[in-house]
Amino acid sequence: MQHWTIAREADGIATLVIDRTDAKANTLSAAVLDELNEALDVLDREPPKGLIIRSGKASGFIAGADIDEFGEVRDEAGAIAIVRRGWDTFERLAQVGYPTLALIRGFCLGGGLELALACRYRVVVDEPGTRLGLPEVMLGIVPGWGGIRRLPRLTGAPAALDLLLTGRTIDARRAKKLGIADECVPVRIMENTARGVLRALPSPRKLGLPLALSLNPLARRYIAAQAQKQVAKRARREHYPAPYAILELWTRYDGNALAAPASDPASIPSLLASPTAANLIRVFRLQERLKSLGKEDERKAAHVHVVGAGTMGGDIAAWCALRGLTVTLQDQDAKRLAPAMQRAGKLFADRLRDPRRVRDANDRLIPDVAGDGVARADVVIEAIFENVEAKRTLFAALERKAKPDAILASNTSSIPLEDIAGALADPTRLVGLHFFNPVARMMLVEVVVGERTRETLVPRAAAFVRQIDKLPLPVKSAPGFLVNRVLAPYLMAAMRAVDEGIAPETVDEAALAFGMPMGPIELADTVGLDICVEVGKMLGSDATPPRRLMELVAAGHLGRKTGRGFYAWTDGKAAKGAAGSVPAGLAERLIEPLITEAKAALAQSIVADADLVDAGAIFGTGFAPFRGGPLHYAGTA
Ligand code: COA
Repeated sequence: MQHWTIAREADGIATLVIDRTDAKANTLSAAVLDELNEALDVLDREPPKGLIIRSGKASGFIAGADIDEFGEVRDEAGAIAIVRRGWDTFERLAQVGYPTLALIRGFCLGGGLELALACRYRVVVDEPGTRLGLPEVMLGIVPGWGGIRRLPRLTGAPAALDLLLTGRTIDARRAKKLGIADECVPVRIMENTARGVLRALPSPRKLGLPLALSLNPLARRYIAAQAQKQVAKRARREHYPAPYAILELWTRYDGNALAAPASDPASIPSLLASPTAANLIRVFRLQERLKSLGKEDERKAAHVHVVGAGTMGGDIAAWCALRGLTVTLQDQDAKRLAPAMQRAGKLFADRLRDPRRVRDANDRLIPDVAGDGVARADVVIEAIFENVEAKRTLFAALERKAKPDAILASNTSSIPLEDIAGALADPTRLVGLHFFNPVARMMLVEVVVGERTRETLVPRAAAFVRQIDKLPLPVKSAPGFLVNRVLAPYLMAAMRAVDEGIAPETVDEAALAFGMPMGPIELADTVGLDICVEVGKMLGSDATPPRRLMELVAAGHLGRKTGRGFYAWTDGKAAKGAAGSVPAGLAERLIEPLITEAKAALAQSIVADADLVDAGAIFGTGFAPFRGGPLHYAGTA
């Protein structure tokens, strides 16, 4: 066997180790599953007292089915073969005569978790890297290898449906709490614990009565109907059929995707034949591509210094501290720093929950009025107001104080990098790191390459972006870079439609029906109408700006932040009326300018190729992921 090894110990317990020889991450390709069957044959011939299944890779347990194999599916038979392969293997594993245990350290996703669920016991290692989940729904498919059946039996329906329908992952402690894991232990005792469980053979945990009832057929139908209502708020069936399919497979076929006839929209052949699955798999690949841009430089930053504690600077600093870096945040006085520190505290509490980890994150974020952190920082990020002279003066000073190999970065969105770089003794040291608002939610960071930016700085800056768990996209320094450039004409087209008398609600609905995550008018209000005007000016559009936009700005109604814009806002929510019926062709009219600009950006080599344009639009503007990106859409629509 190439990918699995069996080791037998004197106590009669055997260990089956997965270590794909041909890949960095363990995935369950056809070959790997075939070999698992071979391994089970070997074990059948001489059954062990117990079996531990674990990974031989430091990176994690198993990352699921091999996504590349989905791309090779050509027909119904091919789609069914993929499901059958895993379903049958895991059924077999679930029925072996000896006790089985999955020892899980690092990621355990999709088919990896389904394999673990087919074992009698699961031990998870309590480390930040341990993440369990069924992310199939994010790829437009469903967990077809037993996850839909087995997970609810362990956790009850509500928690299982939450994981199945959102694709989100959970950590080791949560897995224990939900009943997915039998034990959650530190790494040093993981082996002993696994053996201990196999020796003691505790009887499987039983669901309490209310959760057990959640699995009976009547309750199932009710719970699924409630869950479907929640799903409908986030994803329309015509755009994202997979979550609906999960609910149907669970209620009608107890999670057995093979039982659904191919003609059923919930069947795997139907899902794999839909453009949604192909496009979401494309989005996964685009994301991997962006990740790989951050892998070319191995250096890690330990300390980040951020200058400017406004919304962007403060939130960038908080994010970096959340991701484990030491951060000094500089502004003129403590009063200016206070709101940023407060927002950071809230972010840490929301994301980390555990009081000790929250305290550590708070400790990592250090207010620094004197700017002492500059001299120790590996990365210095400027996020002060958009004024070229102020930035030039600042960078000249930062350059003198900073370590010679520190990254010097500006978060400017509108000032050409070249104009700032001129103030540095070594202008090749300056790069742009353009974050988006809200920092905690937006995955993309544009790595802005100025005319004089040193070439080796780009992979380094990209590696830093990866280090803080964002996606780097290198872009040429030109007005609007990529994201604002493609977004602005779309927002303007939407505002022009309002000028023509179409209700903002109707305009937004047209975009939502196309698949955008938020309507353009609501987005403009969220971004700030003053910012929209500024971006419009920066992009040098000759067209007169939309009338209503200018009226609102003149009246001081800047959108969400002032409580009024195109919509009235209370508690961060827009008061929207009924959308009414959407005029034919409205969505196309809004999207068209975005596509035109995406093509122009490509022609001007703002990013390296068409896939990167699409990646930028999807991760930077939220362009309907199931459509695969604006250029992909333009080529296939
Ligand atoms: N199928 C095929 N390839 C996969 C894969 C999968 N399920 N999961 C990971 N890989 C590949 C990646 O493409 C990457 O390839 P590369 O080295 O050629 O770039 C490699 O494995 C390492 O993954 P990478 O993403 O760089 O490592 P990471 O530590 O940042 O993240 C994961 C690891 C597992 C969290 C992430 O890759 C992931 O989310 N994978 C998909 C999980 C999934 O959706 N599974 C369900 C499949 S149905």
